[in-house]
Amino acid sequence: MSNALSQLVVLITGASSGIGAEIARQCAAKQMRVAITARDAARLTDMAAECRTLGATDVFIVAGDVGIEADCKRIVHATVDHFGQLDILINNAGLGASGKLEEISDLTIFDTLMRVNYLGSVWSTAHALPHLKKSRGRIVAISSLAGLTGVPKRTAYAATKHAMAGFFDSLRIELAGTGVSVTVIYPGFVFSEINQRALSPNGQPFGDHAYQRKVGETMETAECVRQIMRATERRDRDLVMTFRGKIGRILKLLSPRLVDSIARRVISKRQ
Ligand SMILES: NC(=O)c1ccc[n+]([C@@H]2O[C@H](COP(=O)([O-])OP(=O)(O)OC[C@H]3O[C@@H](n4cnc5c(N)ncnc54)[C@H](OP(=O)(O)O)[C@@H]3O)[C@@H](O)[C@H]2O)c1
Repeated sequence: MSNALSQLVVLITGASSGIGAEIARQCAAKQMRVAITARDAARLTDMAAECRTLGATDVFIVAGDVGIEADCKRIVHATVDHFGQLDILINNAGLGASGKLEEISDLTIFDTLMRVNYLGSVWSTAHALPHLKKSRGRIVAISSLAGLTGVPKRTAYAATKHAMAGFFDSLRIELAGTGVSVTVIYPGFVFSEINQRALSPNGQPFGDHAYQRKVGETMETAECVRQIMRATERRDRDLVMTFRGKIGRILKLLSPRLVDSIARRVISKRQ
């Protein structure tokens, strides 16, 4: 693959673990200039050291909570102050939740997930947009297959990912002619810490017992990110991952009930 991304400035949210950390590694290996953000500053420091070893020419750490608009603004401004430009924003920070609606005792889960997954992406994008217009840059949003279809036990999570799809698909149309591209990514199951951090029905994280087990198709993080990098480089409109995801998108138009029953079967094997 060519290295068309070399030297570009990328801001990655949720870069302290999982998919975001691997995006930072692969951007570093492409000699990009990398800004990494998440709440855990210590893990970001470790990530920055890894990125430098892998070849990033400049790595900038800015800790913050994307569930707070002022933090999103500060993260974007600090990045632009440091590098003097912004070419790519990757809205990756996210939080999961699992449990049937009637089992959920702490309904604040719904607003927490909406703030982190949806509003965090909206706020970061809104503050980054003037800079991305100057660079004719790229916006990337990490949604989920749960952003394309309903998933049992994932009402809170699926709603945020559908909201992201609606927001970014609309924004793409608004930005036609500006040179700024919008790429929405729909991964299936990917190895990461998402299940440990996911909120249980009482509002507490599931913790270590929820380690992502190899059930059915769970994609390696590195492969998921290779696909994200390719879509970003090509400014693809969107990327639906996995065979089941691609077929499901078409099948939903023809037989939405069949897609519902597939989603029920898939989730019954997981937490
Ligand atoms: N893994 C999957 O199966 C899968 C499938 C489809 C889509 N996705 C999506 O992929 C993205 C990355 O998830 P992952 O699987 O890599 O999970 P992960 O390993 O749990 O990583 C989540 C990242 O988001 C950050 N984050 C969480 N809450 C935040 C907040 N309030 N402010 C700032 N950063 C925050 C975390 O850092 P701190 O805790 O340090 O803040 C961490 O770096 C998410 O949007 C997720 O929905 C994942």
